[in-house]
Amino acid sequence: MPTPRSTSRRQFLQGLAAAGTAGVLLRSANRAFGYEASNERPVFATIGLRNQGWAIISKSFGFADFAALADVDANVLGANVEKVEKSQGKKPDAYKDYRKVLDRKDIDAVMIATPDHWHVKIAVEAMHAGKDVYCEKPLTLTIDEGKLIEKVVKETGRVFQVGTMQRTESDQRFLQAIALIRNGRIGKVKKVTCSIDRMESSPVIPAVAVPEELDWDFWLGPAPQVPYRALPEIRQGYGGGVPLYSNCHYSFRNWHEYSGGKLTDWGAHHVDIACWALGASDTGPSKVAPVEYALPVEYKDGYPTVGDRYNVATRFTIRVDMPNDVEMIITSEGDNGILFEGAEGRFFVNRGKIAGKPVEDLKDHPLPDGAIEEVYGGKVSQNHTANFIEGIKSRKQPISDVWSHNRMLEICHLSNIAMRLGRELKWDPARREIIGDAQANSFLSRENRKGFEINI
Ligand SMILES: NC(=O)c1ccc[n+]([C@@H]2O[C@H](COP(=O)([O-])OP(=O)(O)OC[C@H]3O[C@@H](n4cnc5c(N)ncnc54)[C@H](O)[C@@H]3O)[C@@H](O)[C@H]2O)c1
Repeated sequence: MPTPRSTSRRQFLQGLAAAGTAGVLLRSANRAFGYEASNERPVFATIGLRNQGWAIISKSFGFADFAALADVDANVLGANVEKVEKSQGKKPDAYKDYRKVLDRKDIDAVMIATPDHWHVKIAVEAMHAGKDVYCEKPLTLTIDEGKLIEKVVKETGRVFQVGTMQRTESDQRFLQAIALIRNGRIGKVKKVTCSIDRMESSPVIPAVAVPEELDWDFWLGPAPQVPYRALPEIRQGYGGGVPLYSNCHYSFRNWHEYSGGKLTDWGAHHVDIACWALGASDTGPSKVAPVEYALPVEYKDGYPTVGDRYNVATRFTIRVDMPNDVEMIITSEGDNGILFEGAEGRFFVNRGKIAGKPVEDLKDHPLPDGAIEEVYGGKVSQNHTANFIEGIKSRKQPISDVWSHNRMLEICHLSNIAMRLGRELKWDPARREIIGDAQANSFLSRENRKGFEINI
């Protein structure tokens, strides 16, 4: 049975023969000295492979060929090279250092699925190297990183998809939710509650020897230099196969040094849909107030006082004042999903269901034809990678563009700053600054470790 790769190569050659374009063939052969691209299928590389990296690669074989993979963990790299070779019938090249991937002229686009503290540096360098970018959510670690990435997307003209795939996938449930609101099925929206689950605290996690296969200094990259920490117990289930308690694989989500905890991990999904539904993708809140929350360690001046255990909020309820008198609640309590409440009704949506009277009423009173497509801005793509590839071809920004992503992520970052400092924050969405609070504003950016600055 021909592999997808050999089929597309044949189609490519047939296309060239029909066009009689020897010059094109020559150019293509030159371009493809490292990997042969078909004219239809872009050549991809993925940076950061372990959990989500493989998930987005495996959703993309139908649309792209993978010429190279990069990871700072040799075991993860080796295992994924094997899996990709098996799936596409051609072995990708393997690199520890992602910069070698960016140097290659035959690669059209990169997918980035490293922990969050690396996203922006790699994405900026990739755009400067002429690559289009698919980068996992949450795109940034700070609000100022968002402003930087917008500038570079604009200056380089690269196509950029953020990995908030709820916009395209989940059987279009979230699109249906937005269509219900736009079609007035709950009247004026009064309140949106985003339930994004709790985080667990950890015991003390001792500093231990770095596993042989891992380049710990390169894993840390822009983050502060600290020892590698892990306990022996192994994580089971989703993201499993690595220490349950560590400051590295998967568990980076529990540390402010590398992530924003649940607020950015799941907030990046549900707050995104909430803001899209509210038509608030190019504005922001006036106030972000921590109503109730628990931090697992003591904080002083916004920083954890110990560095040997998880430090992101474990429980939280944040009240956000959105434009048009809409109250947004972001909470660790309740079923994971989004509850929309309006003057004339309410409904709940998550990845597995959409429920409530306005949804039941659709049987007798369906949405107008094309309502979903109107939300999406055209025919809904097969999946989030397909949408990225449509963007690569049309040179239009995909459905999860950096501008709307950054606006909603500002709410998530502000929520974390408010909890770290223990006070409500007033936000100026036009200036993208916290009003009258110099200390809080100091959290809008972070200094990258020496040697890992972002050079623009
Ligand atoms: N869209 C989604 O639903 C979704 C789901 C899961 C994870 N994610 C996102 O994907 C990202 C990764 O999450 P994960 O669960 O896969 O984490 P993970 O820790 O399991 O995997 C990250 C991988 O990146 C590698 N890495 C670290 N620094 C690197 C560097 N400089 N160059 C190359 N590789 C490097 C690590 O060695 C590891 O293999 C996070 O930003 C996360 O929020 C998104």
